[in-house]
Parts: sequence; C-alpha cells; structure tokens
Amino acid sequence: MSLNIAVDGPAGAGKSTIAKLVAKKKNIIYVDTGAMYRAIALYILRKGTDINDPDAVSKDCLGANVTIGYEDGAQIVYLNGENVNAYLRTEEVGNTASKTSAIPAVRARIFDLQQKLARENDCIMDGRDIGSVVLPNANPKIFLTASSEVRAKRRFDELTAKGETPDFDKIKADIEQRDYQDMHREISPLVKADDAHLIDTSDMTIDEVVDTICSLIV
Ligand code: DC
Repeated sequence: MSLNIAVDGPAGAGKSTIAKLVAKKKNIIYVDTGAMYRAIALYILRKGTDINDPDAVSKDCLGANVTIGYEDGAQIVYLNGENVNAYLRTEEVGNTASKTSAIPAVRARIFDLQQKLARENDCIMDGRDIGSVVLPNANPKIFLTASSEVRAKRRFDELTAKGETPDFDKIKADIEQRDYQDMHREISPLVKADDAHLIDTSDMTIDEVVDTICSLIV
C-alpha cells in the first residue's frame, strides 16, 4: 500500500508550503487538491456561468476535464489539456473556488482523480476533506491551522513580495468568509478528522512544522 499523508486546514494555514517540503524530504509527490477546484472555478469564470446558480454550475462543470502532471516535482494542472497553473492563484479564482467547491457535481468531477493519485503514488495530499472523506485510510492525517490574523499576514506578505499592493483588512475578511463557507457547506465541510493531529502553526517556524509531520510518519 502506498504512503498517503493527508493535510487539511483553512486557507493560508501553510498547507502547500509545508506539504511541498515534506514531499521533497520524503521523496514522494505533492498533490494540491485546491488547485483542482481552482481549475474548475477558472473554467466556470471563463464560461461566464452564474456562480450563485448551483444548477448552472453543476451542468457547466461537466465540460471541465481536470488532469495533473509533474514537471521537476511541481504539479501542473491541465484544464481540457491546457496548462492553467499561471491563472489559478488569483483572489478571484480562490473566492470562486470556495463557492463552487460546495456544489456536489463539482466535487464529483475530481474525486476519482484524487483517489487514483493516492492509490498509485506515495503522496502528501492537501485540501479540506482529504483526511475526512477522500483518503479515510491516510496515515498520518494532519489538521494544520493558524489564527486568521496570522494567515492574513502571510497572504499579505506573499502578495507584497509579488509586487502587488494588497489591502490587509480585505484579505483578512476574505479569509474569514472563506473559512465560514468551507466549514459550513453541506457536502465535505472543512473539519478535523477524529484521528488527525492538530498542528497550530501560528507560532511555529516552517522547519518545526515539517519536522513535526515527518516525525509522525511511520
Ligand atoms: O486551498 P485552496 O485555497 O487552493 O482551495 C481553494 C478552494 O477550494 C477552497 O476555498 C475550498 C476548496 N477546496 C475544497 O473544497 N476541498 C479541497 N480538498 C481543496 C480545496
């Protein structure tokens, strides 16, 4: 059986940074499921579908075929064959993904892909429902979190480093809004699995978090 590590937690908790480092250290692949939801959100945005109309999103998302590949260890997301990595990390796509990912037809579109990747590869997979729904047998399961203040500051610094001029209060409000949406949706809400290890990264260094997770791998 392959090694499957599940990392769940709210936006900005550091999941992707940490998971990438653990993947490198353990020579396993990193699967970013948020990027898959973002690819579907991008498709819906490009198509101009009303994101507040679940029936329209359910119907239109059937036209989005998401696949992934790896280049030098980095995940590439293909949307109907197009490499869309460059378009996925905007606030607009992230906020849309938070809404559209609450729709069962959208989740069904990429569920099999996630399970297949985990079956066929040693991997660390991050998202919102990996330990609770997608990979119930993952070991270890990690629930990574941090205060919304700290998470907003991290996102603010990330955008500033890219040369953008972000608004801290808006970022924090968006993060809190996304937490609410991700935790309160009916299907696969963001929740800590009973057997997940809770790690609050607010006052931890990246190395400390990576070492903690590596020490949990049996
Ligand atoms: O991790 P992220 O910010 O890239 O995720 C974008 C959105 O996708 C997030 O608001 C919730 C959704 N998501 C999800 O519902 N389930 C996952 N496994 C991963 C992400």
